[in-house]
Amino acid sequence: MRNLAVLASGTGSLFESMIERSVPIRVLVVDRPCRAQEIAERAGIQHVLLEREWKSFDRDKYTVDMVNILRQYGAEYVAMAGFMTILGAYMFESGTFGSKCTNIHPSLLPTFKGEHAVRDALAAGVKITGTTIHIATKDLDAGLILAQEPVRVLPGDTEESLHERIKKTERILYPELLLGLMRDELL
Ligand code: GRF
Repeated sequence: MRNLAVLASGTGSLFESMIERSVPIRVLVVDRPCRAQEIAERAGIQHVLLEREWKSFDRDKYTVDMVNILRQYGAEYVAMAGFMTILGAYMFESGTFGSKCTNIHPSLLPTFKGEHAVRDALAAGVKITGTTIHIATKDLDAGLILAQEPVRVLPGDTEESLHERIKKTERILYPELLLGLMRDELL
């Protein structure tokens, strides 16, 4: 089994699903105070707050700091799970994490990239959307697709109800994929 670091920014429900499936997590890194830290604390998982600036954000410096923390904890793989800061190219270059960083996005990529994927899917009137796990690259929501699952859009869906249904699927798909990755069964 390999050492995995998880990056999160919010409620951390995907992070929680990884813990429930016994994905071996070495450290959680968050970019703002958030519920994910409480989940880590309760589970006895080390966690680090690498707080980001909002005015005059130095993305390259933040990325170097992130890589240093991940190395310090011996992370070999990195799973972004609702991490809302875009990291610089250094994170994804060979010699740092290269292709060993995954991201999960609440749409069937390459459609509906970006921060408002669920809202954009609703606005477009699609009947099916879903989730995608892919290798993270310096380009947003791009990179080799590792897994996808469709999710039906139901009449009366709001952004919240649809996103919650997508997350239910993600909470099964992501831990499963990461366990395969950790056992060197993928890539
Ligand atoms: C997920 O929908 C994921 O696809 C997206 O952020 C959400 C994270 O959910 N990147 P949570 O904070 O783990 O509940």
